[in-house]
Amino acid sequence: MGEKRAKVITVGVQKGGVGKSTTSGVLSYLLSQDGYKVLVVDMDSQSNVTDLLTQKDVEDFQGMTVLEAFEDGSVEDYIYQVNENLHVVPSDDYLATLAKNLYRKWKHFDDVNTALKEILEPVIYDYDFIIIDTPPSLSEPMVNAICASDYVLVLAESSKWSMTAVPRFLETVEYAQQNINPNLKVLGILRTMNDVRRADSKAFVELIKEFWPDLCFDVVIRRKAATGRISMEGLFDNNELASALEQYKIFYKELKQRVEG
Ligand SMILES: Nc1ncnc2c1ncn2[C@@H]1O[C@H](COP(=O)(O)OP(=O)(O)O)[C@@H](O)[C@H]1O
Ligand SMILES: [Mg+2]
Repeated sequence: MGEKRAKVITVGVQKGGVGKSTTSGVLSYLLSQDGYKVLVVDMDSQSNVTDLLTQKDVEDFQGMTVLEAFEDGSVEDYIYQVNENLHVVPSDDYLATLAKNLYRKWKHFDDVNTALKEILEPVIYDYDFIIIDTPPSLSEPMVNAICASDYVLVLAESSKWSMTAVPRFLETVEYAQQNINPNLKVLGILRTMNDVRRADSKAFVELIKEFWPDLCFDVVIRRKAATGRISMEGLFDNNELASALEQYKIFYKELKQRVEG
């Protein structure tokens, strides 16, 4: 057990298909390869980051997911070890019932918004980083992720509907900062899924930078076949990994500076 609390980072925005699960999986992988102990918490019932990192059938985790950790009051017994440095608290479809259970059944939480924070507390000194992947909605799993975090990494795909989600997401973050979690910081906005062949995509990349000049990471993640194929090939036995992660390695350097600086 270390002496320092893990830094908790939520990868979020309520828009789907912008690269949240890919980014949280890749970021966790890069941190773990760099020697950090990393716990990934899958707060999306779609289980994409669980699938990406464990390469197992989601059914294999039935009854041993983050949902049961909430019921139990701690994630401790629901951690799957990918390797020494990379651990995952998986999810499955039943995570969709989280809200109902939080309000009706489990009375052991002080506050339904900070339940995730409470169940992470028993392992908070065991890791350097805890990375939380989130669902495409501003629902209980997302709010719990934000309230449990030191940092929020906001993803913005270069498209209109993704961009308009960002200010609404930042409002939720601000609400959490003011009312629940004063330590929370916005780590930055990562622009993703940039289609270099499309003029409108380029325009949104620039517009997002104009709106949030200080928050935007310099690197922009391009739409790239090898990066998309991480969802099929995984991260551990993937012969095009160098090409798939090229842009993410630049992002990783920037992120490290922001977390440490
Ligand atoms: N940079 C990229 N280039 C091409 N495809 C990508 C890239 N990032 C993610 N994808 C693919 O796009 C889809 C959506 O990404 P995903 O990470 O699942 O987003 P979210 O979690 O926000 O829904 C997935 O099929 C994923 O494999
Ligand atoms: Mg996802």
